[in-house]
Amino acid sequence: MRLETTCVHAARDATHTTGAVAAPIYQSSTFARDGLGDGAGYDYSRLQNPTREHAEKIMAALESGADALGFASGMAAISAFAELFAPGDGIIASNDLYGGSIRLFEYVARKNGVSVTYVDGTEARNVAAALTERTKAVFIETPTNPMLNVTDVAAVRALLPDGVILAVDNTFLTPYFLNPLALGADIVIHSATKYLAGHNDTLAGFLVPKTAELAERLRFIQRTTGGVLAPFDAFLVARGVKTLAVRMEKAQANALAVALWLRRLPRVEIVRYLGLAEHPAHELSKRQGRGFGSMISFTVDSAETARAALSRAKLILFAESLGGTETLITYPATQTHADVPEAERAARGITDRLLRLSVGIEAADDIIEDLAGALK
Ligand SMILES: Cc1ncc(COP(=O)(O)O)c(C=O)c1O
Repeated sequence: MRLETTCVHAARDATHTTGAVAAPIYQSSTFARDGLGDGAGYDYSRLQNPTREHAEKIMAALESGADALGFASGMAAISAFAELFAPGDGIIASNDLYGGSIRLFEYVARKNGVSVTYVDGTEARNVAAALTERTKAVFIETPTNPMLNVTDVAAVRALLPDGVILAVDNTFLTPYFLNPLALGADIVIHSATKYLAGHNDTLAGFLVPKTAELAERLRFIQRTTGGVLAPFDAFLVARGVKTLAVRMEKAQANALAVALWLRRLPRVEIVRYLGLAEHPAHELSKRQGRGFGSMISFTVDSAETARAALSRAKLILFAESLGGTETLITYPATQTHADVPEAERAARGITDRLLRLSVGIEAADDIIEDLAGALK
Protein backbone atom coordinates (compact mmCIF):
# COMPACT_ATOMS: atom_id res chain seq x y z
CA MET A 1 0.00 0.00 0.00
CA ARG A 2 1.32 3.43 -0.89
CA LEU A 3 1.49 6.17 1.75
CA GLU A 4 -1.54 8.15 0.49
CA THR A 5 -3.62 4.96 0.61
CA THR A 6 -2.30 4.08 4.06
CA CYS A 7 -3.47 7.52 5.27
CA VAL A 8 -7.02 6.63 4.22
CA HIS A 9 -7.17 2.91 5.00
CA ALA A 10 -4.45 2.28 7.60
CA ALA A 11 -6.63 0.84 10.32
CA ARG A 12 -10.05 -0.45 9.49
CA ASP A 13 -11.84 -0.59 12.79
CA ALA A 14 -11.76 -4.22 13.81
CA THR A 15 -13.89 -3.84 16.90
CA HIS A 16 -17.19 -2.68 15.43
CA THR A 17 -19.77 -4.73 13.64
CA THR A 18 -21.91 -2.13 11.87
CA GLY A 19 -19.85 -1.62 8.73
CA ALA A 20 -19.45 2.11 9.50
CA VAL A 21 -16.73 3.50 7.24
CA ALA A 22 -15.70 6.11 9.80
CA ALA A 23 -14.43 4.51 12.99
CA PRO A 24 -16.84 5.17 15.86
CA ILE A 25 -15.96 7.17 18.94
CA TYR A 26 -15.97 4.92 22.00
CA GLN A 27 -16.75 7.60 24.56
CA SER A 28 -16.55 5.20 27.48
CA SER A 29 -14.20 5.33 30.45
CA THR A 30 -14.71 1.69 31.38
CA PHE A 31 -15.66 -1.64 29.77
CA ALA A 32 -17.85 -4.35 31.31
CA ARG A 33 -17.00 -8.03 31.37
CA ASP A 34 -19.28 -11.06 31.58
CA GLY A 35 -17.12 -12.68 34.19
CA LEU A 36 -13.55 -13.20 35.30
CA GLY A 37 -11.28 -13.69 32.30
CA ASP A 38 -13.94 -12.53 29.78
CA GLY A 39 -14.03 -9.24 27.91
CA ALA A 40 -13.26 -7.68 24.56
CA GLY A 41 -9.71 -6.75 25.53
CA TYR A 42 -10.53 -3.35 27.05
CA ASP A 43 -10.81 -2.60 30.77
CA TYR A 44 -10.43 1.09 31.43
CA SER A 45 -9.73 3.90 28.94
CA ARG A 46 -6.50 5.09 30.56
CA LEU A 47 -5.09 1.64 29.76
CA GLN A 48 -6.60 1.44 26.27
CA ASN A 49 -9.63 2.70 24.41
CA PRO A 50 -10.73 1.40 20.97
CA THR A 51 -10.75 4.87 19.37
CA ARG A 52 -7.28 5.68 20.66
CA GLU A 53 -6.08 2.26 19.55
CA HIS A 54 -7.47 2.99 16.08
CA ALA A 55 -5.46 6.25 15.82
CA GLU A 56 -2.38 4.49 17.26
CA LYS A 57 -2.56 1.76 14.61
CA ILE A 58 -2.69 4.42 11.90
CA MET A 59 0.40 6.13 13.30
CA ALA A 60 2.29 2.84 13.71
CA ALA A 61 1.52 2.01 10.06
CA LEU A 62 2.56 5.44 8.76
CA GLU A 63 5.89 5.42 10.62
CA SER A 64 6.50 1.63 10.38
CA GLY A 65 6.80 1.40 14.16
CA ALA A 66 6.36 -1.68 16.33
CA ASP A 67 3.55 0.27 18.02
CA ALA A 68 2.34 3.84 18.52
CA LEU A 69 1.13 5.48 21.70
CA GLY A 70 -1.40 8.34 21.68
CA PHE A 71 -1.10 11.18 24.19
CA ALA A 72 -3.17 14.22 25.12
CA SER A 73 -0.64 16.57 23.45
CA GLY A 74 2.79 16.60 21.91
CA MET A 75 4.23 17.73 25.24
CA ALA A 76 2.53 14.83 27.07
CA ALA A 77 4.26 12.51 24.59
CA ILE A 78 7.66 14.17 25.12
CA SER A 79 7.14 14.05 28.91
CA ALA A 80 6.51 10.30 28.69
CA PHE A 81 9.71 9.96 26.65
CA ALA A 82 11.60 11.88 29.37
CA GLU A 83 10.28 9.42 31.98
CA LEU A 84 12.45 6.70 30.42
CA PHE A 85 15.43 8.25 32.21
CA ALA A 86 16.69 8.16 35.79
CA PRO A 87 18.71 10.61 37.91
CA GLY A 88 22.27 10.73 36.58
CA ASP A 89 21.27 10.00 32.99
CA GLY A 90 22.13 12.44 30.23
CA ILE A 91 20.32 13.49 27.04
CA ILE A 92 21.91 15.30 24.10
CA ALA A 93 19.45 17.56 22.29
CA SER A 94 19.66 19.79 19.26
CA ASN A 95 20.06 23.39 20.38
CA ASP A 96 17.20 24.81 18.33
CA LEU A 97 14.12 23.06 19.66
CA TYR A 98 10.50 23.98 20.14
CA GLY A 99 10.48 26.21 23.26
CA GLY A 100 8.18 23.83 25.14
CA SER A 101 10.67 20.97 24.75
CA ILE A 102 13.44 23.20 26.11
CA ARG A 103 11.18 24.17 29.04
CA LEU A 104 10.50 20.50 29.77
CA PHE A 105 14.19 19.58 29.65
CA GLU A 106 15.37 22.61 31.65
CA TYR A 107 12.72 22.80 34.36
CA VAL A 108 11.30 19.27 34.68
CA ALA A 109 13.89 16.75 33.45
CA ARG A 110 16.76 18.64 35.10
CA LYS A 111 14.84 18.82 38.40
CA ASN A 112 14.51 15.03 38.17
CA GLY A 113 18.30 14.66 37.86
CA VAL A 114 18.46 14.19 34.07
CA SER A 115 21.00 16.51 32.47
CA VAL A 116 20.45 17.85 28.96
CA THR A 117 23.30 19.06 26.76
CA TYR A 118 22.51 21.11 23.66
CA VAL A 119 24.49 20.87 20.45
CA ASP A 120 24.22 22.24 16.94
CA GLY A 121 22.48 19.28 15.34
CA THR A 122 23.30 20.31 11.78
CA GLU A 123 26.63 18.45 12.19
CA ALA A 124 26.44 14.83 13.33
CA ARG A 125 29.96 15.07 14.72
CA ASN A 126 28.76 17.68 17.28
CA VAL A 127 26.43 15.04 18.71
CA ALA A 128 29.25 12.48 18.84
CA ALA A 129 31.55 15.00 20.57
CA ALA A 130 28.99 15.53 23.36
CA LEU A 131 28.61 11.81 24.19
CA THR A 132 29.59 10.75 27.70
CA GLU A 133 29.11 7.49 29.60
CA ARG A 134 25.95 9.08 31.06
CA THR A 135 24.34 9.67 27.65
CA LYS A 136 21.20 7.57 27.35
CA ALA A 137 19.45 9.38 24.51
CA VAL A 138 19.73 11.90 21.71
CA PHE A 139 16.71 14.09 21.04
CA ILE A 140 16.58 15.63 17.57
CA GLU A 141 14.00 17.95 16.08
CA THR A 142 14.31 18.11 12.31
CA PRO A 143 13.69 20.55 10.83
CA THR A 144 13.86 22.71 13.94
CA ASN A 145 11.31 25.19 15.15
CA PRO A 146 11.64 28.04 14.16
CA MET A 147 15.03 28.15 12.39
CA LEU A 148 14.44 25.14 10.12
CA ASN A 149 17.81 23.55 10.71
CA VAL A 150 18.06 19.96 9.54
CA THR A 151 19.86 16.98 11.07
CA ASP A 152 21.20 14.09 9.02
CA VAL A 153 19.48 11.36 11.05
CA ALA A 154 21.39 8.42 9.55
CA ALA A 155 24.73 10.20 10.12
CA VAL A 156 23.89 10.75 13.80
CA ARG A 157 22.78 7.13 14.21
CA ALA A 158 26.05 5.92 12.68
CA LEU A 159 28.02 7.75 15.39
CA LEU A 160 25.95 6.58 18.38
CA PRO A 161 26.92 3.59 20.51
CA ASP A 162 24.37 0.76 20.75
CA GLY A 163 21.87 1.38 23.50
CA VAL A 164 21.72 5.16 23.12
CA ILE A 165 18.12 5.94 22.15
CA LEU A 166 17.75 8.23 19.14
CA ALA A 167 14.44 10.12 19.31
CA VAL A 168 13.31 12.34 16.44
CA ASP A 169 10.54 14.93 16.61
CA ASN A 170 8.97 14.60 13.15
CA THR A 171 6.19 17.15 13.71
CA PHE A 172 7.19 19.50 10.86
CA LEU A 173 7.52 16.95 8.04
CA THR A 174 5.18 14.17 9.22
CA PRO A 175 5.48 10.58 7.96
CA TYR A 176 4.26 11.86 4.61
CA PHE A 177 7.65 13.49 3.97
CA LEU A 178 10.05 11.78 6.42
CA ASN A 179 10.31 8.39 8.16
CA PRO A 180 12.99 8.72 10.87
CA LEU A 181 12.75 5.04 11.94
CA ALA A 182 13.93 4.01 8.47
CA LEU A 183 16.97 6.29 8.96
CA GLY A 184 17.94 4.62 12.24
CA ALA A 185 15.86 6.45 14.86
CA ASP A 186 14.43 4.43 17.78
CA ILE A 187 11.44 6.63 18.61
CA VAL A 188 9.50 9.10 16.48
CA ILE A 189 7.69 11.91 18.29
CA HIS A 190 4.75 13.89 16.96
CA SER A 191 2.72 16.82 18.02
CA ALA A 192 -0.33 15.54 16.13
CA THR A 193 -1.94 18.86 17.03
CA LYS A 194 -0.22 20.11 13.88
CA TYR A 195 -0.31 18.53 10.40
CA LEU A 196 -1.63 15.11 11.42
CA ALA A 197 -4.91 16.34 12.90
CA GLY A 198 -4.44 19.28 10.57
CA HIS A 199 -7.45 21.53 11.22
CA ASN A 200 -6.43 23.59 14.27
CA ASP A 201 -9.16 21.92 16.28
CA THR A 202 -7.49 19.48 18.66
CA LEU A 203 -4.39 18.69 20.74
CA ALA A 204 -2.69 15.31 20.37
CA GLY A 205 0.72 13.67 20.54
CA PHE A 206 2.32 10.34 19.63
CA LEU A 207 5.38 8.28 20.39
CA VAL A 208 6.19 5.69 17.75
CA PRO A 209 8.86 3.23 18.97
CA LYS A 210 10.77 1.00 16.60
CA THR A 211 10.87 -2.05 18.85
CA ALA A 212 8.34 -3.92 20.93
CA GLU A 213 10.72 -3.70 23.89
CA LEU A 214 10.73 0.12 23.85
CA ALA A 215 6.98 0.10 23.23
CA GLU A 216 6.42 -1.95 26.38
CA ARG A 217 8.52 0.43 28.51
CA LEU A 218 6.61 3.43 27.12
CA ARG A 219 3.21 1.72 27.56
CA PHE A 220 4.01 1.23 31.24
CA ILE A 221 4.83 4.95 31.59
CA GLN A 222 1.71 5.92 29.62
CA ARG A 223 -0.78 3.89 31.60
CA THR A 224 0.89 4.93 34.87
CA THR A 225 1.18 8.69 34.26
CA GLY A 226 -2.11 8.84 32.33
CA GLY A 227 -1.67 11.69 29.83
CA VAL A 228 -3.60 9.72 27.23
CA LEU A 229 -5.32 10.81 24.03
CA ALA A 230 -9.09 11.15 24.59
CA PRO A 231 -11.50 9.25 22.28
CA PHE A 232 -12.91 12.31 20.50
CA ASP A 233 -9.42 13.74 19.89
CA ALA A 234 -8.25 10.34 18.64
CA PHE A 235 -11.17 10.39 16.19
CA LEU A 236 -10.13 13.86 14.97
CA VAL A 237 -6.55 12.68 14.41
CA ALA A 238 -7.73 9.60 12.49
CA ARG A 239 -10.02 11.78 10.39
CA GLY A 240 -7.32 14.40 9.80
CA VAL A 241 -4.80 11.80 8.64
CA LYS A 242 -7.16 10.70 5.86
CA THR A 243 -6.41 13.98 4.04
CA LEU A 244 -2.77 14.27 5.14
CA ALA A 245 -1.34 13.63 1.67
CA VAL A 246 -3.45 16.22 -0.14
CA ARG A 247 -2.98 18.82 2.59
CA MET A 248 0.81 18.34 2.73
CA GLU A 249 1.11 18.63 -1.07
CA LYS A 250 -1.05 21.76 -1.30
CA ALA A 251 0.57 23.47 1.69
CA GLN A 252 4.03 22.68 0.32
CA ALA A 253 3.19 24.10 -3.13
CA ASN A 254 1.80 27.23 -1.44
CA ALA A 255 4.91 27.55 0.75
CA LEU A 256 7.23 27.46 -2.23
CA ALA A 257 5.19 30.18 -3.99
CA VAL A 258 5.18 32.32 -0.82
CA ALA A 259 8.93 31.81 -0.17
CA LEU A 260 9.82 32.78 -3.75
CA TRP A 261 7.63 35.88 -3.48
CA LEU A 262 9.01 36.87 -0.05
CA ARG A 263 12.55 36.61 -1.36
CA ARG A 264 11.88 39.45 -3.82
CA LEU A 265 10.46 41.85 -1.22
CA PRO A 266 12.86 44.70 -0.30
CA ARG A 267 11.77 44.68 3.37
CA VAL A 268 12.58 40.97 3.68
CA GLU A 269 16.19 40.07 4.46
CA ILE A 270 16.52 36.32 4.90
CA VAL A 271 13.98 33.67 3.88
CA ARG A 272 14.46 30.21 5.32
CA TYR A 273 12.49 27.51 3.53
CA LEU A 274 13.78 23.97 2.92
CA GLY A 275 12.39 24.01 -0.61
CA LEU A 276 14.62 26.90 -1.70
CA ALA A 277 17.81 25.71 -3.38
CA GLU A 278 19.85 28.16 -1.26
CA HIS A 279 18.72 26.60 2.05
CA PRO A 280 21.85 24.89 3.46
CA ALA A 281 19.90 21.65 3.97
CA HIS A 282 18.03 21.62 0.66
CA GLU A 283 20.06 18.70 -0.73
CA LEU A 284 20.07 16.79 2.58
CA SER A 285 16.28 17.21 2.78
CA LYS A 286 15.91 15.70 -0.68
CA ARG A 287 18.21 12.83 0.25
CA GLN A 288 16.67 11.80 3.56
CA GLY A 289 13.02 12.66 2.91
CA ARG A 290 10.37 13.18 0.27
CA GLY A 291 9.50 16.85 0.71
CA PHE A 292 10.15 20.21 2.34
CA GLY A 293 6.94 20.90 4.23
CA SER A 294 5.30 24.29 4.55
CA MET A 295 7.10 26.16 7.34
CA ILE A 296 8.90 29.40 6.47
CA SER A 297 10.93 31.66 8.75
CA PHE A 298 11.98 35.08 7.55
CA THR A 299 13.56 38.23 8.88
CA VAL A 300 12.40 41.71 8.00
CA ASP A 301 14.22 45.07 8.09
CA SER A 302 13.09 46.09 11.61
CA ALA A 303 11.22 44.96 14.71
CA GLU A 304 8.56 47.57 13.85
CA THR A 305 7.94 45.96 10.45
CA ALA A 306 7.66 42.55 12.12
CA ARG A 307 5.24 43.74 14.80
CA ALA A 308 3.12 45.76 12.35
CA ALA A 309 2.79 42.71 10.07
CA LEU A 310 1.17 40.76 12.90
CA SER A 311 -1.70 43.21 13.23
CA ARG A 312 -1.98 44.12 9.54
CA ALA A 313 -2.43 40.52 8.37
CA LYS A 314 -6.12 39.87 7.81
CA LEU A 315 -6.51 36.48 6.15
CA ILE A 316 -3.37 35.14 7.80
CA LEU A 317 -4.06 34.64 11.47
CA PHE A 318 -1.66 35.82 14.16
CA ALA A 319 -1.87 32.68 16.28
CA GLU A 320 0.37 30.08 17.88
CA SER A 321 0.67 26.61 16.38
CA LEU A 322 1.21 25.36 12.86
CA GLY A 323 0.31 22.66 10.38
CA GLY A 324 -3.40 23.40 10.02
CA THR A 325 -5.57 24.36 7.09
CA GLU A 326 -5.27 28.08 7.95
CA THR A 327 -2.06 30.04 7.31
CA LEU A 328 -0.73 31.27 10.67
CA ILE A 329 1.94 33.83 11.47
CA THR A 330 3.87 33.85 14.74
CA TYR A 331 6.51 35.94 16.43
CA PRO A 332 8.86 33.36 18.01
CA ALA A 333 10.70 35.87 20.23
CA THR A 334 7.60 36.52 22.36
CA GLN A 335 5.57 33.38 21.67
CA THR A 336 7.07 29.90 21.23
CA HIS A 337 10.51 30.93 22.53
CA ALA A 338 9.56 33.54 25.15
CA ASP A 339 11.05 31.37 27.93
CA VAL A 340 14.44 31.02 26.23
CA PRO A 341 16.90 33.61 27.64
CA GLU A 342 17.42 36.55 25.26
CA ALA A 343 21.14 35.92 24.69
CA GLU A 344 20.44 32.31 23.70
CA ARG A 345 17.61 33.39 21.43
CA ALA A 346 19.89 35.89 19.72
CA ALA A 347 22.63 33.27 19.29
CA ARG A 348 20.13 31.05 17.49
CA GLY A 349 18.86 33.84 15.23
CA ILE A 350 15.52 34.19 17.02
CA THR A 351 15.56 37.98 16.94
CA ASP A 352 12.77 40.56 17.16
CA ARG A 353 12.87 40.77 13.34
CA LEU A 354 12.02 37.09 12.83
CA LEU A 355 8.57 35.95 11.75
CA ARG A 356 7.40 32.38 11.22
CA LEU A 357 4.74 31.32 8.77
CA SER A 358 2.86 28.05 8.78
CA VAL A 359 1.49 28.08 5.26
CA GLY A 360 -1.99 26.61 4.93
CA ILE A 361 -4.06 25.30 2.08
CA GLU A 362 -5.79 28.50 0.91
CA ALA A 363 -5.13 29.86 -2.60
CA ALA A 364 -1.45 30.88 -2.73
CA ASP A 365 -2.37 34.21 -4.35
CA ASP A 366 -4.64 35.12 -1.43
CA ILE A 367 -1.86 34.35 1.06
CA ILE A 368 0.57 36.46 -0.95
CA GLU A 369 -1.87 39.38 -1.30
CA ASP A 370 -2.42 39.37 2.45
CA LEU A 371 1.32 39.30 3.13
CA ALA A 372 1.80 42.18 0.69
CA GLY A 373 -0.64 44.23 2.78
CA ALA A 374 0.97 43.13 6.07
CA LEU A 375 4.51 43.98 4.97
CA LYS A 376 3.88 47.19 3.02
C1 LIG B 1 8.16 20.60 16.96
C2 LIG B 1 7.16 20.55 18.07
N1 LIG B 1 7.20 19.53 18.94
C3 LIG B 1 6.33 19.45 19.96
C4 LIG B 1 5.37 20.42 20.17
C5 LIG B 1 4.43 20.31 21.34
O1 LIG B 1 3.19 19.86 20.91
P1 LIG B 1 1.79 20.20 21.64
O2 LIG B 1 1.56 21.67 21.48
O3 LIG B 1 0.81 19.35 20.91
O4 LIG B 1 1.93 19.83 23.07
C6 LIG B 1 5.29 21.50 19.30
C7 LIG B 1 4.27 22.54 19.50
O5 LIG B 1 4.27 23.59 18.90
C8 LIG B 1 6.22 21.58 18.22
O6 LIG B 1 6.20 22.59 17.35
